[in-house]
Amino acid sequence: MKPQTFRTRITDLFGIDHPIVCGGMMWLADAEYVSAVARAGCIGFITPRSFPTPEDFREQLRKAHDLSDGRPFGVNLYISARPESNQLLQTFLDISIEEGVKFVETAGFSPKEFIPKIKDAGITVMHKCTTLRHALSAQKAGVDAIAILGAEAGGHPGMDMIGTMVQGAIVPQELSVPVVLAGGMGTGRQLVACLSLGAEGMLIATRMVVAEEIWAHENYKKRLAELGPDGTKIIMSIFGDNSRVIDNPSTEAVLALEAEGSTDYEAYRPHVQGTLQKEAYEDGDWTKGTMSIGQSVAFAGDIRPAGQIIDGIVEEATTVRDRLNGF
Ligand SMILES: Cc1cc2nc3c(=O)[nH]c(=O)nc-3n(C[C@H](O)[C@H](O)[C@H](O)COP(=O)(O)O)c2cc1C
Repeated sequence: MKPQTFRTRITDLFGIDHPIVCGGMMWLADAEYVSAVARAGCIGFITPRSFPTPEDFREQLRKAHDLSDGRPFGVNLYISARPESNQLLQTFLDISIEEGVKFVETAGFSPKEFIPKIKDAGITVMHKCTTLRHALSAQKAGVDAIAILGAEAGGHPGMDMIGTMVQGAIVPQELSVPVVLAGGMGTGRQLVACLSLGAEGMLIATRMVVAEEIWAHENYKKRLAELGPDGTKIIMSIFGDNSRVIDNPSTEAVLALEAEGSTDYEAYRPHVQGTLQKEAYEDGDWTKGTMSIGQSVAFAGDIRPAGQIIDGIVEEATTVRDRLNGF
């Protein structure tokens, strides 16, 4: 692990060495991964829905405790627009509290209803969102930090599709809580850019999918390593739910349905269901399933241990900072 070269309110808030936060990744962010990130001096978030049962999730938390050398890790709670999909979140939160989790990343819809329980348990919460309006309301609801996503991001970049550079120049100025900037990030140059914009760290996900500790099949990672920034597409706009995913035959089939104007979700289901993504990670067949991937896949050109990826980003950022100091 590299020694600390950037101390910000984000490193202090999470008790980490480097201002790099690794966002939750459905199916992929397990104990092995978040503990590797923790040992590299950063924080990652386990995704509870990735495991067959809530008790399997509990096992992952215990494993992460064992593997993290006492360093912090957290839990991702993705809040759906559909209340029925959120029922399990209370269970996940209860288990997290019972297992002594200290950090939560919320995302998706408003975290407001979960904040009292999270704060009563003494947990630090960062909310990830895509507009200044949502960031301000999450701050008002009591979150400790905001991750603001730009249009380049993998997963759900929001419907306004504001670029990360613009988000970064606006959102940190308007908030009193610390902000991390996300969407298209994957290099040390960008970390310095985030700090110069007024953010106090950056959040990455796509860059880490090729980490050795990520359990996905090597063929899937090799495919990502081949892709440039044009290797993704936005789908599901027709449902008001933009999703940035890998460009493959499933994605093209979804785009064809959208071009026809179809709003029958059942027609989309065979292409977008989550189990297909899991299968692609298992067997490495990247041609099927709509796997979340951001434009930062352009930086995911090498399959290396998570610690080496993080070290490389920190080293580059430190060099760039020193170069700027010389101007
Ligand atoms: C494979 C993958 C799975 C993701 N799953 C989740 C998830 O379950 N919950 C969540 O809040 N965000 C999820 N995201 C979004 C990331 O946490 C993060 O916000 C986003 O990817 C940042 O942009 P980047 O991909 O350009 O780094 C996922 C992203 C990827 C690449």
